[in-house]
Amino acid sequence: MVTLAPPSIRLRSVGQAVAMPDGAQPARAEALGRREAIDAFGRRMNYLRISLTDRCNFRCLYCMPALGMKFQPRAELLTDDELLRAVGLCARIGFTKLRLTGGEPTIRPHLVELVRGMKAFPGIEELSMTTNALLLGRIADDLAAAGLDRVNVSIDTLDPDKFKLMTRGGRLDLVWKGIEAADAAGLGPIKLNTVVLKDQNEHEVGEMAALTLDRPWQVRFLEIMPLEGVGEVHDEGLVTSEQTQARLEARFGPLEPVAADAADPARLWRIPGAAGTIGFISPVSAPFCEACNRVRLTADGKLRLCLLRPDEVDLRDLMRAGADDDQILDRLLGGVWRKPWGHGLAEGERMTVRGMSQIGG
Ligand code: 5AD
Ligand code: SF4
Repeated sequence: MVTLAPPSIRLRSVGQAVAMPDGAQPARAEALGRREAIDAFGRRMNYLRISLTDRCNFRCLYCMPALGMKFQPRAELLTDDELLRAVGLCARIGFTKLRLTGGEPTIRPHLVELVRGMKAFPGIEELSMTTNALLLGRIADDLAAAGLDRVNVSIDTLDPDKFKLMTRGGRLDLVWKGIEAADAAGLGPIKLNTVVLKDQNEHEVGEMAALTLDRPWQVRFLEIMPLEGVGEVHDEGLVTSEQTQARLEARFGPLEPVAADAADPARLWRIPGAAGTIGFISPVSAPFCEACNRVRLTADGKLRLCLLRPDEVDLRDLMRAGADDDQILDRLLGGVWRKPWGHGLAEGERMTVRGMSQIGG
C-alpha cells in the first residue's frame, strides 16, 4: 500500500480540484509499478460504478428534465466486449466491487450475460446494481443465478399517484413486485434510495422509513444534487438530511446511530427496535469526498473520476484504436491518479454538461 503524507491542503481544499501535493511523484511511480489504482491523495480506488446505458424507462423529476432529454446513439456506447474488457482490466488494478447503474441498467440488452462475465473476473468480490426495479419481476432470478449479489432500488414514495408524478408515469405496483422478486431471489439486503423533494415526497419519508420496522432493509434518504437539467428542481426542492431526520424523529422518536463502513456515503441510524436501518446520504450538507473509493465508467466508455466534476478519461476510443492491455492499464492508472479531490457543492459549484442518467449515480 502506498501511503502519502496527508497533504496539508486537504481539509481546507474540500470542494476544489487541488494540485497534486508535493512529493507525490515517487509514489505515483510506485503505484504505476505495482499496478494499483491509487490517486494523488493516497485514496485507493476499489469500487467501479458502471453505467450500462444513459436511457431509462422512467423520467424522474430530479434526474431528467421534462423535455429535451437527448440520448446517445448506440454506436457511441461501449459494446459488450469493450465493456467486459474495460471491467476486466479494472479488476487487475485492485477494483473489487462493481455496481451496475444507468440510466436504467435493466434495459441494457444481454444484462444477464454481462453480469456473468463481470462476476467471473478474478478479484471481483461483489457485484450490485442500482435500478428502478420496474423490470426486476421478470429477471431477478436470472440475475441472481448469474452472480448479481444485491440491488439498490430507487423509490421515492409509497403513494401510487405521487409515484406516477415523480417518475413522470411510472407504476408503483410493478416496481413493488420487482422489489419483492429481488428480495425473494436473495438479492438482499435490499436498499431503497429515496430522493427527498420539497412539496413532493417530503411528507412521506415516515412511510418509507416505516418499511424498516419489520424488514431487514436499508431505506436511504438522499439530498438532491444539482446535476445537469435539474438545477432548478434542486434550488427549489432541496430537503437536507437534517430536515428529514427531524421529521422522522418527530414520528418515531430519537433514532439510534448504527456504525457504518467509512467508505459508505450513508450515515446509518435505526428506529429503536426496527429490523432494518435508515441511511442519510448528504452530498450537499456533509460531503464524503475524503473517504471516496470510487470512480465511474460511463456508458460511452469514459472513466469518470468524480460524479460532480467533468474530468473524464477516454477508454473507448483508445480501445477502438487498437490499444493493447498495457496501454489501457496505463491510462486507467494515470486517470485514477488525477482524480479530483472533491466536489464543490457546499461552495455553490455545480456540474453541468452531464446529468445523472448519463453518469450513473
Ligand atoms: N440527486 C440525487 N440523487 C439522484 N439520483 C438521480 N438523480 C439524482 C439527483 N439529482 C439517484 C436516484 C438513484 C441513484 C442512481 O441516483 O434516485 O437512486
Ligand atoms: Fe431513471 Fe433512475 Fe433517473 Fe429515475 S433516477 S429517471 S429511474 S435513471
